[in-house]
Amino acid sequence: MISGDNIRDYHSRMKRADVRGIETAFQEAGTGAPVVLLHGYPFNSSMWIEQVESLRARVRVLTPDLRGLGQSTLSSGPVTMEEMAKDTVALMDKLGIERAVVGGLSMGGYVTLAFYRLFPERVRALILADTRAQADTEEGRRTREEQALKALSEGMNPIAEAMLPKLLSQATLSEQPEIAARVREMMTATNPAGAAAAQRAMAGRQDHTDFISQILVPTLIIVGSEDPITPVKDSELMHERVRGSRLHVIDGAAHVSNIERPVEFNSALEEFLDSLQP
Ligand code: MLT
Repeated sequence: MISGDNIRDYHSRMKRADVRGIETAFQEAGTGAPVVLLHGYPFNSSMWIEQVESLRARVRVLTPDLRGLGQSTLSSGPVTMEEMAKDTVALMDKLGIERAVVGGLSMGGYVTLAFYRLFPERVRALILADTRAQADTEEGRRTREEQALKALSEGMNPIAEAMLPKLLSQATLSEQPEIAARVREMMTATNPAGAAAAQRAMAGRQDHTDFISQILVPTLIIVGSEDPITPVKDSELMHERVRGSRLHVIDGAAHVSNIERPVEFNSALEEFLDSLQP
């Protein structure tokens, strides 16, 4: 069980690097084959604590805060999924990582797909968790703009309250209040300007539904059976189109399935990593 102390400790151990003019905060743990994990919105890389703790004994895990989120600064330039992917590859360059397993949850998955599209030669395998390949609908874009304006005018509290019931299952919300508190705190600590920029970046993201049939690396797709934001059918679509992909549905989990069901999520990750050719 992850405690408040574990989370404070995670944040206090963040390193910093100047990446494309942004002060990027990140954490590295373990040694061996690199695995890069990209967080969702409106979170930060501490959402991966359980995965870092479980994987660090076998691989080198890199968990950056994406631009404008967590402890990473917001650029004055454009914020897009592609810019976040370029930040990630620039951080890998700085750390001497040529190729990695690249994975992300939700928005982190959108960045992961942009990353593969831009830098396929840097990807050994993909992990797509609680995410989707489709772009937004017009209505989805309008809602994101409303949410961006709300974050800027009212701060993160109303955003966090509205999102929480979609991020965690009813059972987790009522039986594990410490998980709900952790997820809420992660969202309310987010810089509203970074959150607004991320929403606008997601609204403008490319559609990858056709492109994903060109993915040539091993791909693990994970989704919570009760995820209302990126439902199981979105993962099934990716599974159909990404040749040879594996689909793991986590029963009873909602959108942040890695936090709700860390043991099952980690064992799916470990099994997948063990299956990769050296
Ligand atoms: C996320 O968890 O990253 C976001 O909820 C994804 C989205 O809004 O599409």
